[in-house]
Amino acid sequence: MSINLNTTIGGIALNSCIYNASGPKCTTKEELENIGKSFSAAILTKSSTLELREGNPSPRYYENDLGSINSMGLPNKGYQFYADLAKNMRQYNKPYFVSVAGLSLENNLTMLQDLSSVDAIDAIELNLSCPNVPGKPQTGYDFERTQHVLDKVCQFDQHTLGIKLPPYFDLIHFRQMAEIINQYPIKFVTCVNSIGNGLVIDIDQEQVVIKPKDGFGGIGGDYIKPTALANVRQFYLLLRDDIDIIGSGGAKTGSDVFEHILCGASAVQIGTQYMKEGTSCFERIEKELKNLMLQKNYTSIKDFQGKLQSIK
Ligand code: DHB
Repeated sequence: MSINLNTTIGGIALNSCIYNASGPKCTTKEELENIGKSFSAAILTKSSTLELREGNPSPRYYENDLGSINSMGLPNKGYQFYADLAKNMRQYNKPYFVSVAGLSLENNLTMLQDLSSVDAIDAIELNLSCPNVPGKPQTGYDFERTQHVLDKVCQFDQHTLGIKLPPYFDLIHFRQMAEIINQYPIKFVTCVNSIGNGLVIDIDQEQVVIKPKDGFGGIGGDYIKPTALANVRQFYLLLRDDIDIIGSGGAKTGSDVFEHILCGASAVQIGTQYMKEGTSCFERIEKELKNLMLQKNYTSIKDFQGKLQSIK
């Protein structure tokens, strides 16, 4: 039986439903080329800003068996670098997505406008949820602000546009955010960014494990899978049918990816596990997912996407 993992994101074809999350190892040309050469179904860049940034002081990333904490502070090479790389990325025959996380609305508009003239960029993932820049609240937690930002960014012609959201925890917040997003020509929504401002502690040292912000940072990995799944499920049920959901959060095996798709995801991004394992994770997870589908007699992700059942 032949199994394929083909999917589409906002009408863009991918030959597998597994690719890298924005954040880990997707900042430099070499890192992006390595993703290009791997089984990752797409190449997604580190969130970019108007100008190059060095980011926060180290240590700024820490992992344990359950996941990760980071306060990187948006180190990136500046959006022009990712625009200039686009043509080069064509050789890998997979979509090239640029993540944008401007420090102001004006910066976002400048970047989106400039990037819209770069044909070799397939889509933009606008990050409304970076938790690590002191003094800059996560846009996605401010509903009025999010509405204003989407009003502005959707005003001019551009690439396929998706947004990356922070995790929500209250049913009313899912509904309020979905109501806003449904008003705009957004093509995909990535759920979720890290759970912001968690704290991981080294008990021997009686100390925090990362330096910036007195140790507070975004949590990823196993810690956040149930939250990620809940966000995928809620937005799958609440958003327009033509908006694809991209799952992100705690996916490290084929069965984790299966769970995200069962909740409604059209594709699943790998963050903490990619950081830990490197590019070989994409092939491994793909194999595990195919084996699971084989056991269940599924040949395509459409056979189970969104079909999570309630207990009758
Ligand atoms: C960073 C962290 C994030 O979770 C994000 O969405 C963007 C940037 C960072 O600290 O670099």
